[in-house]
Amino acid sequence: MIRAKFLGVGMYVPPKVVTNDDLSTLMDTSDEWIRQRTGIEQRHWVEGKTTNADLGFEASKMALSKAGIEAKEIDLIVYATLSSDHDFPGTGVFLQKKLGIGGCATIDIRQQCTGFVYGLSIADQFIRSGMYKKVLVVGSEVHSRGLDRSPRGREVSVLFGDGAGAAILGAVDVKDGSKDSYLCSTHLHSDGNFAEELWVAGPGMGFGGETRFPTADVSDEVYYPKMNGKTVFLHACKRMPEAVMEALNASEKKIEDIDLFIFHQANLRINDMVAKQFSIPEHKVFNTIQKYANTTAATIPIGLAEAERAGKLKPGMLVAIAAFGSGFTWGSALVRW
Ligand code: ACO
Repeated sequence: MIRAKFLGVGMYVPPKVVTNDDLSTLMDTSDEWIRQRTGIEQRHWVEGKTTNADLGFEASKMALSKAGIEAKEIDLIVYATLSSDHDFPGTGVFLQKKLGIGGCATIDIRQQCTGFVYGLSIADQFIRSGMYKKVLVVGSEVHSRGLDRSPRGREVSVLFGDGAGAAILGAVDVKDGSKDSYLCSTHLHSDGNFAEELWVAGPGMGFGGETRFPTADVSDEVYYPKMNGKTVFLHACKRMPEAVMEALNASEKKIEDIDLFIFHQANLRINDMVAKQFSIPEHKVFNTIQKYANTTAATIPIGLAEAERAGKLKPGMLVAIAAFGSGFTWGSALVRW
């Protein structure tokens, strides 16, 4: 049967490090509060003219090099981001231009923190159907330019960082029930009843049914992310375990069968709760939030690339991936690495 295999993963973060102490000079926060409530110690922010597509390009180059293939072999780019470079066209075509592969297909998706899992699923469906053989899935975010850096923004702005991750998925012929490396399954969900619990209201065509730009004042809070943190936290703690179990059940696996868990990085306390609920030993959960904060669509591929670089992700391992975020959206994947 034709399945999708991870041929290579890559990541990139811009060089500038912003510590919690740096943020405490902008808003009423502290290193102690941020570490205790989220686990975050620092994040990276872009400087100068660096774009979302630039970050995606660097991560893609690393993924291509790990996969040992050339960019021109890519049939489809799936680009997941909530911080696109422009309203339109999507950032995928700007990455395509940088890679010099005009002509292949591109799809941009907006599923926020679950964006990469959705991207994996899209790649998987195209590969399983036989339509494409090699798909580049990218998660990339430039949050720093869209955060409210005024004192008003402290509840959200301390949580996010800039960065990108990428994966090349390629078609392989695997035998049913074998231990070959492949993406075993993906599972996607969303619930628009909670769309306004974590969102940016404007600009947008739906803003109050009025004009597209309700005000020229860039300090207007409608332009900045708004989050009901407690509601998001509670739903994440419910949906992430559900998503993990869905992926395990689809392959008739148990928690003990999983070698490594790569969870979305929104809050270390969420991941600790999921691990505690399933009695997962600490060494099986790979977190990067301490260094990079929440890079939204990029957290999962950054986690995969970093785990591989750290020698914690090796061929043959069974890997469970789960994410939750704005939408609400949530999902999971099971991978034989
Ligand atoms: N520094 C200092 N104090 C702060 C800060 C800050 N940065 N932010 C909030 N506080 C204050 C609050 O005002 C509050 O003060 P009060 O008690 O005087 O009212 C106090 O700290 C406690 O606030 P809580 O909201 O109770 O803090 P909580 O423990 O819930 O942590 C957090 C807040 C970190 C936002 C948490 O709710 C969370 O992680 N939520 C989920 C985030 C998430 O999963 N996002 C999804 C992915 S993101 C995406 O999809 C784009």
